[in-house]
Amino acid sequence: MTESQGTPTRKRLLIRTWGCQMNVYDSARMADVLAPLGYAPTEVAEDADMVILNTCHIREKATEKVFSDLGRLREAKVARGGQMIVAVAGCVAQAEGAEITARAPWVDIVLGPQSYHRLPEMVALASRAAGAVIETEFPVDGKFDHLPEQAAPQGVTAFLTVQEGCDKFCSFCVVPYTRGAEYSRPAAAVIAEAKCLVTLGAREITLLGQNVNAYHGEGPDGGAWSLARLLLALAEISGLDRLRYTTSHPRDMGDDLIAAHRDIPALMPFLHLPVQSGSDRILKAMNRGHTAADYRALIEKLRAARPDLALSSDFIAGHPGEADADHRATLKLIEDIGFASAFSFRYSARPGTPAAGMAGIVDEAVADQRLREIQALLSDQQYRFNRSRMGMDIPVLVTGPGRLPGQMSGRSPWLEPVHFPSSGDLTGQTVTIRVTVTRPNSLSGELLAPPKPQASEKDAA
Ligand code: SAH
Ligand code: SF4
Ligand code: F3S
Repeated sequence: MTESQGTPTRKRLLIRTWGCQMNVYDSARMADVLAPLGYAPTEVAEDADMVILNTCHIREKATEKVFSDLGRLREAKVARGGQMIVAVAGCVAQAEGAEITARAPWVDIVLGPQSYHRLPEMVALASRAAGAVIETEFPVDGKFDHLPEQAAPQGVTAFLTVQEGCDKFCSFCVVPYTRGAEYSRPAAAVIAEAKCLVTLGAREITLLGQNVNAYHGEGPDGGAWSLARLLLALAEISGLDRLRYTTSHPRDMGDDLIAAHRDIPALMPFLHLPVQSGSDRILKAMNRGHTAADYRALIEKLRAARPDLALSSDFIAGHPGEADADHRATLKLIEDIGFASAFSFRYSARPGTPAAGMAGIVDEAVADQRLREIQALLSDQQYRFNRSRMGMDIPVLVTGPGRLPGQMSGRSPWLEPVHFPSSGDLTGQTVTIRVTVTRPNSLSGELLAPPKPQASEKDAA
C-alpha cells in the first residue's frame, strides 16, 4: 500500500464502535485526526481503505464480538486484494495487545484508548511496514492536545470527555486496567471545546468520564476545579442550553455537586448513578466503598436539592458470593428508590480482576433468573416513570426530524425521546410539548409554545 505525498487522495474509513460513550467520543476524534489524511466515512467494509474497530472489554460477550467481526473483515480485506488497513482500538486493544495480531494476523494496527492522536503516524507506518504496529502505552496527556477547532460537528447533542481512567478498582471491572489511572483535563481546555461544540450547533453537552464526578482538573487560577465548579463555568456559555454528566460514582458525589443540581437550571434533572447491588455484603466484595444505606441517603439529599430529579443506575446480577438474600436486597433497593431507567448485566468474569478469583461462583442459570427479575422490575419502573409524564408540559430539545413525515423528535429533560408533529424544522430549539402518549421507551405530544427566537432560556432570564 502506498501513501501519496502532498494533497491526500480520497480514502474511505469505516469505524465500528462498541462499549460506552467514551468510545463513541473517541471514535469521533479518530475520524477527526484522520480527516486531514483524506479519509471520509463509509458504512461498507468492502469499500473501506481503512477499518477501525473501537472495542469494549467490559464483558466477555463484548470482547468475543471483536474477534467474530475480525473474521468477517479478513474476507473483505482479501476481496480488496489486501488493500485495507485494519486497526483495533479501544479497551480490547489495550487489554490484549499483541494477542490480537497473534489471533488475527491480518490486523495492521493495535492501539490503546490513549493513543488515537498518534493514528496518522501509525497509518503511515502500517502502510510501509511488513509487521503490525502496536501502541498500548498510557501517554494520556497528548490525547487531548488535538485542536477542538478541527472537530467534526456532533449535532444538537454532543459528548465531551473531561476525565478518563479509574482508580476505584471495583472487584469485577477491567476499566482501571484498560483506561489507566484517573486523569482530568484542564478546565480551560474543556471550556474551549464546549464553546467550539456550541459554535458547531450543540445545544446540549454531556460531560464524559469513567468517573466523571471525580473530576479535579486544573482551573485557570492554577488550583483544582471540581466537577461542580466546571459545570458552573460551562453554564455561562451562551447558546449552551443543557448540561449532563456521566458516569458518576456514589463515593464522589460531593456536596457542591449536589448543590449544583439545585443551582444550575441548565443541569438536567437526570442522573446516572450506578449502585450495582443493594446488599452490603456484595457491595463490600465489589469494593464499591459504600453501603446501601449510604446510597439511599445520597439519593435523598439529591432529591431534596432537585425534587424532579430522575435516577438511573447499573446493576450486576450474580457477582461471586451473591446469595438469594443479597439478590432480594437489590430488588428491595430498586423498589424503594424507583428508577426512571437503568442498565443491568449478568456478572461476567474478566481475566485479571479480583472477582475472577473469588469463591462463591453463582450458577449461570441462577444469575440469569436474578437478572430477569431485576430487569422486569426496572422496565416496569421505566414505563411507570414515562406514564407519569402524561399531560405534562415539558421542555423538549429538538434533535431533528422524526421517522414519520411532518414529525420532529427531541429529548425530554429526563432523556426520553419525544416525538411531535411540526410543519417547520425546529432542530436545535427548545420547545414546550404537552405529552399525550406515553410508551415504555418514548413519549409523543403536541407542540404548545412556539420556540423562543434564537436566545437560549438562560439569556432571556
Ligand atoms: N464507571 C462506571 C461504569 C463503568 S462500566 C461506574 O463506576 O459505574 C459500566 C457498567 O458495566 C458497570 O456499572 C457495571 O454495572 C457493568 N460491568 C462492569 N464490569 C462488569 C462485569 N465484569 N460483569 C458484568 N457487568 C459489568
Ligand atoms: Fe469500573 Fe468501578 Fe471504576 Fe466504574 S468505578 S470504572 S465499575 S472500577
Ligand atoms: Fe468498555 Fe472500555 Fe468503555 S471496557 S465500557 S469501552 S471504558
